[in-house]
Amino acid sequence: MDVIEIIGGKPLKGKVRISGSKNAALPILASTLLTNSKVRLTNIPDLSDIFSMIELLKSLNVKIYKKNNYYTFKSDTPKSLIASYELVRKMRASFLIIGPLLSRYGYAKVSLPGGCAIGTRPVDLHLDGLKKMGASFSIKNGYVHGSVKGKLKGTSINFKKKSVGATENLIMAATLAEGKTIIHNAAQEPEIDDLCNFLIQIGAKIKGHGTDLVTIDGVNELNGGEFEVMPDRIEAGTFALSVLGCSGDLILTGVNNQIYKHLKDIFKPIKFLKLKIIDDKSFSVVKVKDGELNLKVTTKEYPGFPTDLQAQLTAALLKIQGLNEINEKIFENRFMHVGELRRMGAKIRKKGSKVEITGVKEIYGAELMATDLRASSCLIIAGLMAKGKTIINRVYHLDRGYENIEEKLKACGAKIDRIKK
Ligand code: UD1
Repeated sequence: MDVIEIIGGKPLKGKVRISGSKNAALPILASTLLTNSKVRLTNIPDLSDIFSMIELLKSLNVKIYKKNNYYTFKSDTPKSLIASYELVRKMRASFLIIGPLLSRYGYAKVSLPGGCAIGTRPVDLHLDGLKKMGASFSIKNGYVHGSVKGKLKGTSINFKKKSVGATENLIMAATLAEGKTIIHNAAQEPEIDDLCNFLIQIGAKIKGHGTDLVTIDGVNELNGGEFEVMPDRIEAGTFALSVLGCSGDLILTGVNNQIYKHLKDIFKPIKFLKLKIIDDKSFSVVKVKDGELNLKVTTKEYPGFPTDLQAQLTAALLKIQGLNEINEKIFENRFMHVGELRRMGAKIRKKGSKVEITGVKEIYGAELMATDLRASSCLIIAGLMAKGKTIINRVYHLDRGYENIEEKLKACGAKIDRIKK
């Protein structure tokens, strides 16, 4: 297994091109199952989660070609409508195919995604919503068997809790349902908006996307079309937090105004981190000085502070004077990185869903273990901030969601290498 080696202590300086968004690309890829016309997509990042979804789609008879920087998809009727454990266990987002399959073919057998390192992550909201649209489910041998008599029927769905994946599954299912579906308490993440913009592009009738009340009027069929996936706001946020941890200044390119405004807003209490717009597709991130911070950050649904940046923020705060508190309210077990950071000399106290970080003068390189995707980038930030050498094991977690992160950091002055083993 590859490891990443870092010699810490260098400020970051230079330009980074932010890749296409993983969390927008995955549901958009799943939604190619909704049409038998050709769909062409650009700005799909080269990541192992994307490759897992492509493998899953291929197993469902989607013909996929890649040329230069665009992919073409053509979803022909599959021989079987089964998403195997082998394919689903690699990535929870595989469950996003159940809505499109039930909507287009009226049947799907999908392996239950099960637990993962950051919590139990059930799929009850996905299934309850689809049941309300007329699907019935049984669970046998770890598989969800879903079927619909005739077509899914538009209805009113009121999520008891906001869920990104359940909102996406229901929106996709509703595009080909009979009649109108109204989703109350929908998640509002920009990646859902991107999915809706793509679906509209291929003929879906959706209103209110980007708000918590989304209305979908079902159509008989969807067409083909072209779409560019939005930039990755979590990758952009990870680089911004690297600047907070290591000092320096970066220009992030390939982004957009919405990401600039979102990051500026969530990082506002971090008074040393300044974001400045350059043009429609780029902004700069600078750490202006050192001093004391006493933050109280709580992870929330969009537009709040994203849980997907919680681990990276924890690392970036390790050497800042003061007592900083982070409260994780989305997932119940998303602090696997804390033990590793303590091994580097970090002073972190965990109390229930909160961590308290007391700034220390120095943290020290160590041999570490990545446990999940965002914990991996947190350890990279800590390694870049530390004195001496850090070795990070199990970097396959990193490859699920960051495209060439070590090359991008190296181009900005970091001493970081991937050692092939
Ligand atoms: C998506 C993102 C992930 C991010 C998360 C929260 C993708 C591919 N992944 O994951 O990076 O961390 O949103 O922003 O876009 N829940 C239930 N029942 C359900 C579904 C979810 O109780 O049926 C709970 C989850 O356990 C969690 C919360 O709802 O506590 C939010 O999860 P959800 O928004 O569904 O996350 P994902 O879509 O899995």
